[in-house]
This record gives sequence, structure tokens and C-alpha cells, in this order.
Amino acid sequence: MSDLALDTASARFVTAAPARHVDYNEDIVRKFLIASMFWGVVAFVVGCYIAAELAWPQLNIAPWFNFGRLRPVHTSAAIFAFGGSALFGTSIYVVQRTCRAPLWGGKALANFIFWGYQFFIVMAALSYVLGFSKSREYAEPPWHLDLFLVVIWVAYLVAYVATLLKREEPHIYVANWFYLAFIVTVAMLWIVNNLTIPVSIYGSRSYSLFAGAQDAMVQWWYGHNAVGFFLTAGFLGMMYYFIPKAADRPVYSYRLSVVHFWALIFIYIWAGPHHLEYTSLPDWTQTLGMVFSIMLWMPSWGGMINGLMTLSGAWEKLRTDPGLRFSVTAVGFYGMSTFEGPLMSIRSVNALAHYTDWVIGHVHSGTLGWVAFITFGAFYYLVPVLWKRTGLYSTRLAAWHYWISTLGIVLYITSMWVAGIMEGLMWRAYDAMGFLQYSFIQTVVAVHPLYVVRLLGGIFFLIGMLIMCFNLIMTVKSPSTARGNVPGAALAAGA
Ligand code: HEM
Ligand code: HEM
Repeated sequence: MSDLALDTASARFVTAAPARHVDYNEDIVRKFLIASMFWGVVAFVVGCYIAAELAWPQLNIAPWFNFGRLRPVHTSAAIFAFGGSALFGTSIYVVQRTCRAPLWGGKALANFIFWGYQFFIVMAALSYVLGFSKSREYAEPPWHLDLFLVVIWVAYLVAYVATLLKREEPHIYVANWFYLAFIVTVAMLWIVNNLTIPVSIYGSRSYSLFAGAQDAMVQWWYGHNAVGFFLTAGFLGMMYYFIPKAADRPVYSYRLSVVHFWALIFIYIWAGPHHLEYTSLPDWTQTLGMVFSIMLWMPSWGGMINGLMTLSGAWEKLRTDPGLRFSVTAVGFYGMSTFEGPLMSIRSVNALAHYTDWVIGHVHSGTLGWVAFITFGAFYYLVPVLWKRTGLYSTRLAAWHYWISTLGIVLYITSMWVAGIMEGLMWRAYDAMGFLQYSFIQTVVAVHPLYVVRLLGGIFFLIGMLIMCFNLIMTVKSPSTARGNVPGAALAAGA
């Protein structure tokens, strides 16, 4: 398969043969891919453990294993370690290929970014387990680690932008815009939300520069845009590169991708207050958050349509290419969670959904269905290419991975929808005398079976991940996939 270029006549991105040999830095991409798979397993194991703790609280056996400490280990391992490593790896791959230029800064800078980021992740996880946390969701690391991450992130930004600047291609392919929006915006969010006054070096304690409602608003401006730019924009970069590549088709509409990009980044940034409805936040800001959330539906679905329609004329590939099947299902989940999100932001709906497991169901339809599936699609495409193999070790195992993890997601999100709506309804039920009909503990007892179903869903998803790891390791190791041994395998590693 070949690289993507802009066909100026049709204003569409098409595949084109490489003009000359470029010495791409693939070593760093391989490292990030391995790291992402490793952290994915860690994140899902911890996810299953905390899911079990919610079902059986006796599992809180020691302070280090308490739900309160392990929950941020799960969220950080899933978002920053699994998702983040996948984004670093794929963005570095994509920027080099679409610019026909090697990564700027050479091996030394690339290794600094890789090892620095992994060091940050390990230190952050250790801090949470030992009980050090800033207690801001998704921004828990102690202040020294915040500063350290800024250094790594700036190095990543510099390497990325410098590669773009010395590109051989006249156009900057749309996937790079999404990746760049992710890198720049996450830097801005991280710095502003982590503005703190340190009060102890060894105890890692610090106090936020903001206070009260303002502090909450800054935190959810960060939290929501971590969803928008980390969990969405970055992975859309993945979608815009790997779906056209795997399908060997141009992006359905170049214009739509431009509209998608600008509308998404303009609208996302205002929607944060939907996390703080019915709080002491000024009423108008809550309305603003709600209105922008509803508007967000349009660019999100524009992007979904663009991703899906790229397969026009190539739908039969879904039968033979397991990676593409993951990517396309991911786009479907993206559409689903970006429909559900605006719905949940409507005040009257949020009154029912907020604080309930419906939010957890929404989160995991986005993270498992969209984030993890689009990443799996990229892995299945990239591993044979990067390790120069003729194809996957087993497409059958990849099919098993697909079905078992899809079943896992369905169990996870449906159990959480039922649990969430039940909680919301039970909390607001009054008896004839005007008293609350149910005590809180009654709602906890009622959701117990659903928590067990969620755990089962998580275990399925974890098993699927282990199957993929085995399949990809065998792809790299097995003589049957070595170049020349299997002529004409489905995923020819030609790029
Ligand atoms: C085997 C797969 C997974 C399982 C079993 C699992 C389980 C859980 C559990 C039990 C919680 C705590 C829910 C609560 O506090 O009530 C949680 C929260 C969370 N998980 Fe997962 N998870 C999985 C995969 C993922 C992935 C892949 C991501 C992201 C890429 C992710 C992101 C999150 C986030 C952001 C939260 C916090 C949600 C909130 O505060 O509303 N999870 N997960
Ligand atoms: C149009 C797009 C979206 C909108 C308007 C939206 C809206 C919302 C709303 C209203 C909530 C509930 C806030 C609450 O009551 O506490 C929420 C929570 C959340 N959403 Fe979305 N959502 C969107 C897409 C997504 C996607 C694609 C993902 C993941 C990839 C995602 C991840 C999350 C997370 C992690 C939370 C929980 C935050 C927390 O409380 O810790 N959202 N979203």
C-alpha cells in the first residue's frame, strides 16, 4: 500500500506511490505500540478489579488496593498510558508518512519523549497507589510530575511541528490537523488546570490557584476538553489516516473533513459546564454548556459520516480485514456516544443521569467502543507493516477478539444504562406522604447484579485484549508471517 497525497483536481486525498526513499523513524513507533498494549492490559486488569470492588467491597483489602486509589490508576492507565502511547506512536508514524519526512530531532529526542512519558506514567501510578493525589479528576499527579510532563509534551510538540515544517508534501494531510489540535490543546488545558501553589516537596501537596465555583469550572473546562481533544481529536487523527489506508480509498469528503475539524475544535471548548449542571455555577454558564453540547452533535456526526462513507465501494473488505472491522465499528460507537452526550447535557435529562451509572455507561461506550476499537484497528494495520510481515498470524483469532470484545462492550454499557436509569428514578421517587421512597442503600442493593454483569463485560474485553496481544506477538515472531513465506497475504506490509 502507498501513502496519501492531495489530488488537486478533485480536492480529495488519494493514494500515491512514494517518490523516494525516506529514512522514517519507526523504532519509536514500535516502542509506543508495545507500551500501549502493555498499559492496555494493565488498565483493563485494574478496571476489572475496581469493577469487582464495586460489586464486592470486601475486596478493598489494603490501602494500596482501595477503590479510591485504584480508580485513578485505571483512568490514567487507560487514557494517558494506553490511549496516550497509542496517540504518540500513531501520530509520529502518520506525520512522517504524510509529510514524507523523518521525525525531526533524531533518535535522541524521540527516545527522550518515549522514556520520559513512560517514566511519568509509572511515577503517576505509584503516587496514586501510595496515596499522593491532587484530587482533580484526570489531573491527579502531584505537582512535580505536572511540571515534568510539560517538558515532555513541549518536546513532542516541537518534534511534531518541526517535522511538519520540513515536509516534502505541499499539503498538511487532515489527520495531522487533528493530532496537532490534540497536542496543542492538551498542553494548554494541562498547564491552566494544574496552576497550583506547592506547599510541600516530599508530601507532594499543593493548592489550586483557583477557588470555589471558578475552580470547579476550570477543572471541568479541562476535564471535558480532555475528552474532546485527548479522547476524540487525537483518535479522529487515527481515523482519518488508518481507515483510508486500510480500505485503500480516499477520504470520502475533503470539505467535510475541514468543516468537521473547525466546527469540532470551536464548539468543544465551550461545552465543559455540562458537567456542572444544577451546581453553584452561574445559570447562564450551565445553559451555554448545554447549548454548545447540543451543537456538538452536528460536527461529530459529520465526522462519523465521513469515516463511514470512506468505505463506499470497499465494504466487502470488512469481511477480510479484521483491523478495518474494528475501525468501522469504532466510528459507529463514536456516533453513538456523541449522540448520547448531547442528550445527557439537556438539563432535564441530566437531572436524571448525573451522579448515576448512566454516565459510566456513556464513558465506556466512548472509551471501549470508540477509543479502544479505533486503536485496535490501527494496531492490526501497523504491526505487520512495522515489523515487515506479510500479514497477521491469525485472522481467526482477530475475529474472536472482535466478537468477544463487542460482547463485552454490550454487557458493560447496557448494564450501566439500566443501573443508571434505575438509580436516577429511585433517588427521585417520593411516597404519598412526600418522603423519599428509597434509602440510598436500597439503590446500592438494587444495582448489585448489574455491577456483576459489568464485571463480566470487562472480563470479556480483557480476554479480547489478551487474544490480540498473543496474535500480534505471534505475527512478529512466527516464521509463517515472514516476508516471502506467504505470498499475497491479506495485509500486505508494503508501505
Ligand atoms: C476492561 C475494560 C474496563 C473496565 C472493566 C472498566 C471499569 C471501570 C470502572 C469500574 C470504573 C469506575 C466506575 C465508577 O466510579 O462507578 C471506571 C471508570 C472509568 N474508566 Fe473504565 N473500564 C474499562 C476500560 C476503560 C477504558 C479503555 C478507558 C479509556 C480509554 C476507561 C476510562 C474510564 C474513565 C474515564 C472512568 C471514569 C468515569 C467517570 O468518572 O465518570 N475505562 N472504569
Ligand atoms: C458530542 C459529544 C459529547 C457530549 C456533548 C458529551 C456530554 C457528556 C455529558 C453531558 C456528560 C455527563 C456529565 C455529568 O452529568 O456528570 C458526559 C460525561 C463524560 N463523557 Fe461525554 N459527551 C460526548 C462525547 C464523549 C466521548 C466521545 C467520550 C469518550 C471518548 C466521552 C467521555 C466522557 C467522560 C469520560 C465523562 C465523565 C466525566 C466525569 O464525570 O468524570 N464523552 N459527557
